[in-house]
Amino acid sequence: MPPETPRPENFEELRFRPSEPRIATTAELKRVKLGRHAEIGPRCVLREVTVGDFSYFERGGEAVYTSIGKFCSIAANVRINALAHPMERLTTHKISYRPNEYFRWLPVDQSVIDRRKDDAVTIGHDVWIGHAVVIMPGVFIGNGAVIGAGAVVTRDVAPFTVVAGVPAQPIKPRFAEPIATRIAALAWWDWPPETLYDAIPDMQALPIEAFLDKWEGRQPFLPSTTTK
Ligand SMILES: CC(C)(COP(=O)(O)OP(=O)(O)OC[C@H]1O[C@@H](n2cnc3c(N)ncnc32)[C@H](O)[C@@H]1OP(=O)(O)O)[C@@H](O)C(=O)NCCC(=O)NCCS
Repeated sequence: MPPETPRPENFEELRFRPSEPRIATTAELKRVKLGRHAEIGPRCVLREVTVGDFSYFERGGEAVYTSIGKFCSIAANVRINALAHPMERLTTHKISYRPNEYFRWLPVDQSVIDRRKDDAVTIGHDVWIGHAVVIMPGVFIGNGAVIGAGAVVTRDVAPFTVVAGVPAQPIKPRFAEPIATRIAALAWWDWPPETLYDAIPDMQALPIEAFLDKWEGRQPFLPSTTTK
């Protein structure tokens, strides 16, 4: 900064980039809530979805009736909540539940919509979802889980578990149990931006145990009421 430039009152805030969500112009969003720094890539289609702070969708992602925590990384072409058609009826085609698209006077069948809403998907914090994963209705994915590329997730995924395959099966824990428990208790995803800023060099440099040893002792953190 040149010496003649007056120091702005909010000088400290210059560490932070604007926190507004970034939405690609080709993305289609209906009834979506986006957190700070959330990012929605090109050609994503999201309906009735909540996306937590810092979580991002790469290109071509789709989600409906889904709640996503903070710091989730969602690779390209992921489909979250592949909705069910009514298999018990004469036809699975939407003519039975969206007849309004073809005929006048026949309304949408609300029972099918309600059934889908009841089968929402919930995804925790810091979940990494690999390329082209499909997540089926009603699934719950715990904090810190990893879903391998190409998986079809039909059952709940436990926190800090790596799953892969069709149907997805656990292939290993992401961390040994005591480490996972300590990370869950740290709940770093709730830290305010000031704390995250200070912790990033340690995230890069320290092995996970040393990171926990150092940062577990630092609470309480700054209040998380900041709007940055
Ligand atoms: C799941 C994943 C994270 C595991 O990585 P890893 O810890 O290095 O695992 P490994 O390569 O040691 O594989 C462990 C086992 O799981 C299997 N495996 C790994 N990924 C798999 C996948 N996506 N589907 C099916 N099986 C898989 C391996 O074949 C191996 O099996 P084996 O023990 O019988 O040989 C990784 O394979 C993956 O899928 N990453 C997603 C990449 C991606 O989509 N990136 C997009 C950009 S965000």
